Amino acid sequence: MSIGIAVLIGLSALFVLHGAHQGLAEPLKQSNQYRKAPGQPHGQVSAKLMLDIPPKVDQALLQAKYKRPEVIPFPADNPHSQARELLGRTLFFDPRLSGSNWIACATCHNPAFAWGDGLPRAIGHGMQVLGRRTPTILDLAWADTLFWDGRAASLEEQALGPIQAAGEMNQPLETLVNELRAIPGYRELFQTAYPNEPVAATTIAKAIATFERTVISSQAPFDRWVAGDEAVISDAAKRGFVLFNTKARCSQCHSTWRFTDDSFHDIGVAGDDQGRGALLTDIVAMQYAFKTPTLRNVHQRAPYMHNGSEHTLEDVIAFYDQGGRVTRPSVSADIQPLHLTIQEKSDLIAFLHTLTSEDKPMTVPTLPR
Ligand code: HEC
Ligand code: HEC
Repeated sequence: MSIGIAVLIGLSALFVLHGAHQGLAEPLKQSNQYRKAPGQPHGQVSAKLMLDIPPKVDQALLQAKYKRPEVIPFPADNPHSQARELLGRTLFFDPRLSGSNWIACATCHNPAFAWGDGLPRAIGHGMQVLGRRTPTILDLAWADTLFWDGRAASLEEQALGPIQAAGEMNQPLETLVNELRAIPGYRELFQTAYPNEPVAATTIAKAIATFERTVISSQAPFDRWVAGDEAVISDAAKRGFVLFNTKARCSQCHSTWRFTDDSFHDIGVAGDDQGRGALLTDIVAMQYAFKTPTLRNVHQRAPYMHNGSEHTLEDVIAFYDQGGRVTRPSVSADIQPLHLTIQEKSDLIAFLHTLTSEDKPMTVPTLPR
């Protein structure tokens, strides 16, 4: 006997579950139907979704939902060229961009750690421990806002921040521009990349932003499974993906092919950092809210959260299972104790591992003299 039950996630029916799952008689019409009303238990529907077999997924919907873009969007006032990308890549890896001449962007955004630094919180100029963890720069060409609190609107705007910040690279822009102009190799790179513009803060920012847009997590096993290769991910990972979209509610925030809604939420990470709340002081939901990070290549980037407070992916799952580490009025309604079984926790982790792309090793440029 085979009954097909469509589980509607948001407005799209992603899974067609086959088999005599008596407990699944009531399909979820919309995601907010299993959102907990304040003060009421919510275990009802989610408890029914424990699956012992990998579900059959509606391939067309899956493909539509997780479609990777075909081209990288570049802004009209800073279109891509090979020369600009090369200049940006060179600047990104050059420690001479810092006041001490030994901290590059890549010191913290290291390709070997999926473009993070593997530290709970970044360490900058003079060995200062900064307030937040270094986020990855993967797939930012599609990001709406930048920084954990969304305070920068474009990569061009963002790029000059860390160079000047006393705690990060501690380099006045004027000094940097003079230093770069004095290096013949850089004069040439700038001339080819921006022939009608000077070596200046604006062109430094535009070149770095161009390079950053090309830093993309390429095809991962998850994408090949979406494309139809059934054997490429394990049954555990497939069950994990169902949980991700149903009982565990992860897809409420970690949505689209980048696994982020580009929005801000308080998920109950302990600490005093107000996050986006420092910018939007009168919106309750924005207090202690941070940008939803992409989950692409996530297992290469421990520790986790804006302050590195969760050491491993196992800890992150335990965090969500508990319903966050603290309760506050600002904590999102989607953060609730999940009552996951040991098997479900490891299934979720198996799924997260399928998001790691098999990228070609990054070529570090020769720095001009
Ligand atoms: C000392 C370590 C350090 C250095 C050096 C550094 N960064 Fe960062 N970067 C960080 C930290 C920490 C954050 C998060 C800060 C925040 O959100 O408040 C960040 C955030 C970012 C973001 C935003 C990412 C996102 O998801 O919103 C981008 C882009 C970025 N850095 C690019 C650069 C570039 C370009 C350089 C070199 C010019 C650079 N960084 C140098 C640590 C560093
Ligand atoms: C209400 C929205 C929301 C839900 C639901 C949610 N997340 Fe998150 N997730 C976030 C935000 C926001 C952060 C960053 C929070 C911070 O650093 O303070 C985050 C951080 C993470 C991180 C750490 C990534 C990093 O680079 O630090 C992982 C891993 C993660 N979530 C996985 C999951 C999984 C798995 C689920 C389901 C069990 C889930 N999330 C449910 C919004 C959400």
